[in-house]
Amino acid sequence: METAKLYEGKAKVVLADREDGFVRMVFKDDATADNGLKRGRIADKGRMNRDISAALFRYLEAHGIPTHYVEAAGEREMRVRRLRMLPLEFVVRNTAAGSLARRLGLPEGQELGRVVVEIYLKNDALGDPLINRDHIRALGLADDGDVDRAIELARRTNDLLRPLLLSCGLRLIDFKLEFGVDAKGEVRLGDEISPDTCRFWDAATGTRLDKDRFRRDMGGVEEAYAEVLRRVDAAVGGAA
Ligand code: TMP
Repeated sequence: METAKLYEGKAKVVLADREDGFVRMVFKDDATADNGLKRGRIADKGRMNRDISAALFRYLEAHGIPTHYVEAAGEREMRVRRLRMLPLEFVVRNTAAGSLARRLGLPEGQELGRVVVEIYLKNDALGDPLINRDHIRALGLADDGDVDRAIELARRTNDLLRPLLLSCGLRLIDFKLEFGVDAKGEVRLGDEISPDTCRFWDAATGTRLDKDRFRRDMGGVEEAYAEVLRRVDAAVGGAA
């Protein structure tokens, strides 16, 4: 019962916890890109992403963002509150990169005049399409007030993480967040915040320190994740 697998995703396994209302996320070394078409492993990624996520969730909680985080456990596990997840991905962008640069014909690295929040439908079979509030309402995908709250929390998360990361020499280019609703009906930040789900560029050199190194076969993937962990630990330790 204690180890019953509730769900297995591309980068994490979710296990039942002995206490009702909580689950355990196990971070895997498996890496995928292009909606699962490219597959590989990044040595020690599970542990590093668990540690990076735990540090950032602790920082966000301490600064007023409700998250699912409870505690880090074992080598690569995180104990979290169980949430009913919204079937949506919220992408926050400060700088053009990746799919936005392609879609709008912008050079990667071009600053956006203001922060852009996009919503994607979590649906592997459809390739996680970009959607808007009208699609969510028309299809009844999520409660309107929950989506408003998730967008507000996504923007506040960006406002908190940008200066924190810059203090350790990382530019936060863009990132993806997932939200869910807890037993009391409160919207909380869930999932993970790691180099799998964010773009981090070295502020001085522009070197990419995130999963784009895997997606684009650039090499130095493990080293980049280890560098992010070292810097985030220093920044969160220093800011705590
Ligand atoms: P994109 O430019 O490919 O749309 O990605 C934007 C940000 O969201 C980037 O930091 C990577 C992250 N992301 C995920 O975490 N999961 C995904 O499935 C996708 C497409 C992007």
